[in-house]
Amino acid sequence: MQTSSTRFSPSTHRLVITIDGPAGAGKSTVAQCVARRLGYTYLDTGALYRAVAWNVKQAAIDILDVNQMNSLMASMNVHIMVQESLMRVWVNEEDVTSQLRDPEIGTLASSVATIPAIREWLLPIQQDFGRQGGIVAEGRDMGTRVFPFAEAKFFLDADVAIRAKRRYQDNVLAGHGMEQAAVQEEIIARDIRDRSRTIAPLYPASDAVVIDSSVLTVDEVVATILERISAIQ
Ligand code: DC
Repeated sequence: MQTSSTRFSPSTHRLVITIDGPAGAGKSTVAQCVARRLGYTYLDTGALYRAVAWNVKQAAIDILDVNQMNSLMASMNVHIMVQESLMRVWVNEEDVTSQLRDPEIGTLASSVATIPAIREWLLPIQQDFGRQGGIVAEGRDMGTRVFPFAEAKFFLDADVAIRAKRRYQDNVLAGHGMEQAAVQEEIIARDIRDRSRTIAPLYPASDAVVIDSSVLTVDEVVATILERISAIQ
C-alpha cells in the first residue's frame, strides 16, 4: 500500500497511537499501513476477543455460565507474536490466527466482549504491548480505556452500508460466503452490542480525531493520520 502523497520523517520518540471504531470501518488496513510506515508494532485487540471466542466455541461453553467462563480463563493460555505489521495468535499452543476471521467467531467475540471479567483479564495483556511505545493499537476502547494516555488517538467511522460492503468483500476474499444484506444485519447488531455494553462501550475518546472514511480511500485516511502524527511530534 503506497501513501506517496504524504512525506513523513520518523522521529525517535515512539508514540502510542490508538485507532478505534466500529466493524468494517477499515481500522485493520489503516492501522497496519500506519504501523508499517512508522516501523511500529501493530496490535489487533479484536483478535484477542476473537481468540477467547474461538476457545469458547471449541470447548462448547455457555458464555452466560460464570463458572465455566472462569475455568476457561484459568486454563486458557494466549500467546501473541507480532512480526512487523502482522500478528499471530496462539491459544494453548495452537496457532489459531487463520481461524479468527470467521464471521461466526466475530459475532461470538462481540458477545464475549460484553463480559466484564473477560475485559479485565485482557486489559493488562494489551497494556503490556504499549509500555515501550511505538505501537498502533486497534480496537473499540483503545483511546478510552486501554491506553487513555495515548499521544495520538483516532476514531474511524463510516456509513453502515459502506462498512457492510467492505466486510462482505473481505469475507468473499477469505472464502466466507454470506449475503451482503446478512453481513449488514450482523454489523448493525454488532454495533448495538459494542456501543451499548456497560463496560468499555464503543465511543470516541474526547481527545480523538474522528475520521469518516465513507468517501475516503485507505491512502487518504493513512495520510490524514500521518499528517496529524507528524504535527504532534
Ligand atoms: O475488531 P474485531 O471485529 O476483530 O472485533 C471483534 C469483537 O471484539 C468486536 O465486535 C468487539 C470486540 N472488541 C472489543 O470489545 N474491544 C476491543 N478493543 C476489540 C474488539
